[in-house]
Amino acid sequence: MPRNRALDAGKGHTLVRIESFQLERWMTKYEVKVKWDIAESGIYPMSTREILDLLPPQDREQELGRLLDLRLGYSEACGSEELRGLIAATYENTSAAEILVTTGAIEANFLLFNELLSAGDRVVIVDPAYQQLHSVARAIGCDVALWTARHDDGFRFDLDDLRALATPGTRMIVINTPHNPTGAMLSEQQLREIYALAESLGAWVLSDEAYRWLDLPGNAALAAPMRNLGPRAISIGTFSKPFGLPGLRTGWIAAPADVIQRCWGLRDYISLSPGKLNDALATLAFRHRNRVVERTREIVAENVSFAEQWFAENVDLASWTPPRGGLLALMKYELEMPSLELANHLAEEYSVMLAPGAAFGYEGCLRIGIGSAPHIFAEGLRQTARCLRDLASAGVPMRSVALAGAAHRRVRLQTPAGSLGDPAGVCRRLHRGRGPPDGATRQHPHQVPSVLF
Ligand SMILES: Cc1ncc(COP(=O)(O)O)c(C=O)c1O
Repeated sequence: MPRNRALDAGKGHTLVRIESFQLERWMTKYEVKVKWDIAESGIYPMSTREILDLLPPQDREQELGRLLDLRLGYSEACGSEELRGLIAATYENTSAAEILVTTGAIEANFLLFNELLSAGDRVVIVDPAYQQLHSVARAIGCDVALWTARHDDGFRFDLDDLRALATPGTRMIVINTPHNPTGAMLSEQQLREIYALAESLGAWVLSDEAYRWLDLPGNAALAAPMRNLGPRAISIGTFSKPFGLPGLRTGWIAAPADVIQRCWGLRDYISLSPGKLNDALATLAFRHRNRVVERTREIVAENVSFAEQWFAENVDLASWTPPRGGLLALMKYELEMPSLELANHLAEEYSVMLAPGAAFGYEGCLRIGIGSAPHIFAEGLRQTARCLRDLASAGVPMRSVALAGAAHRRVRLQTPAGSLGDPAGVCRRLHRGRGPPDGATRQHPHQVPSVLF
């Protein structure tokens, strides 16, 4: 796969020139090989049988028959009326005409960026972020300002930082709550303030709510969706995370009808319509949303409780800020070793997948997903502890020792292609209060190496 892909219109005009999606490329390398994938950003997926089992027993046969007999023609281009109606009902004052069913949240974001932004537009985007949110805006040629998470008592986004960045002329503010990769959350009040700021600037707010309905035990309830707040507000959603159905490749945009029409127009050239069977299965799952989300919560509660115990037992090796919502968090490890090198070593030698923090610009961290099947999650963490202890025994220095000035030994394992090398050379520490947990390092976003593997 070429590193920088250009989809050429054929007449010398480049439609899209975009940097490689680093985390996706890295995950693709290992996700079908490892036994314990605890890097995933979603929940342990549901099967078709489990979707059917949501129905009362007497209705299952009939529904199965309906699915088997469904003629697999083209689907309604915007998504079926029923699915759009169900989704619309979860927002205030929103009709089916204000919903576009898309190929995952990824297509929803792509359409919105391309329809609402032009080269030179100023866009303020949360940082770190799901890479798409930065890369597509940059590919369009926008003036991208990063609203970087602070780290004091956990990760959080500071509204004063946003106000300083959202200068007059700002065209869009892009948020993601609950947040990938830190698990931070914006409150209802913060969403209101963000919306008021956007409205005063005549800007859009694109709220990536891929982790909607994923509030975590012991934490504040999730804020109502951004879409409810007014005509400049756009929410996106997906079946991938809260429903555990990423294989349906089904997401949506909730936006004013004219924005939906524009996105639909662009979508005619990309995926045209949702898959017919996917739409039918998504509709079925959505009708039983409360039970599906309950299943998700049970998995997450079990994993969070195991993780808390694991971090307590391995306090010398690793720590985390437990996520406030969603399915992701950053694990800070104490070895002085680049995150890509450690993630590769974990995958190759211990069959565990934890995503390198470097993919988000954070060194000294691995991203952990709390949505995998509990037995996989538990064994993945056990193997991770084994790996970290083995490396420490083999002489890889611990960060506390290294930071104290002793044993600044360069770590070299089986060097993977594209290794980030000595972290001190590519990272810079940000001032306290903004950026990564103490002891972890934040790379300047533009210093994130363009090659992860
Ligand atoms: C914040 C965020 N937005 C969007 C997506 C895309 O999700 P999908 O296309 O599977 O719906 C992801 C996937 O990880 C994500 O984390």
